[in-house]
Amino acid sequence: MRVAIFATLVLSFATTVLASDGITDLQAMTAFLSDAALQIWSTQITNGTSAYNGPVTPTMDLIANISAQINASKASLETDQNAFTNGQTGAIETTYLSYIDTVPTFAQAIESQGRTWHDEMNAPVFANLQSLAAAIQAYGSSLRRGQLISQTSMIRTIRAVSAVSNAQRSWDRPFNYPGKRSVMRNGRRGEAAGRI
Ligand SMILES: *[C@@H]1O[C@H](CO)[C@@H](O)[C@H](O)[C@H]1NC(C)=O
Ligand SMILES: *[C@@H]1O[C@H](CO)[C@@H](O)[C@H](O)[C@H]1NC(C)=O
Ligand SMILES: *[C@@H]1O[C@H](CO)[C@@H](O)[C@H](O)[C@H]1NC(C)=O
Repeated sequence: MRVAIFATLVLSFATTVLASDGITDLQAMTAFLSDAALQIWSTQITNGTSAYNGPVTPTMDLIANISAQINASKASLETDQNAFTNGQTGAIETTYLSYIDTVPTFAQAIESQGRTWHDEMNAPVFANLQSLAAAIQAYGSSLRRGQLISQTSMIRTIRAVSAVSNAQRSWDRPFNYPGKRSVMRNGRRGEAAGRI
């Protein structure tokens, strides 16, 4: 009995330590990126007036979360490429493309969020976007070195990285937020004024 419990513990520990399956990682990251983008857009729409407070999970945390997932997947790949590919080498690239193509959508939501009135600090979002760009680049390079993705996918990766860098521009002001709350007029949001 004791031995069985011990074995179960060792097994579950091993599961978390050993490399995870790359396809599963990529699917989870794709889902996370689209959910996070939707979360940001929908709070901008529903709370675009004076009640606007930003997404339920702060933008900086959404960005840190996806960076951590990307870095963990990269670590899995570098720990054990066979476990990572799990006999599905060919499918990695297709799944990778779905993930990488979701990044610009996520970046655009964050960019728009930065231009809209927000009460979240700019600096942590700016810094986390920097790390995210580095994480995306490093993960793509690792997959490329492992010959799991093509040069075409690397070109898409570079585009995704620049979308993230572009999003940084809307969070680069030294103070927290654009100076004025936007006003809804005839259902359309007015300019978020106050570039410093
Ligand atoms: C919208 O703002 C209200 C008031 O600040 C807040 O209670 C609510 O959670 C926000 N809704 C969303 C979806 O962020
Ligand atoms: C990342 O987000 C998921 C839900 O989307 C959550 O379950 C998880 O705890 C988050 N991780 C971190 C480190 O915040
Ligand atoms: C992920 O890795 C990148 C590049 O190696 C690094 O800059 C970043 O700080 C890491 N992010 C997290 C959340 O671990």
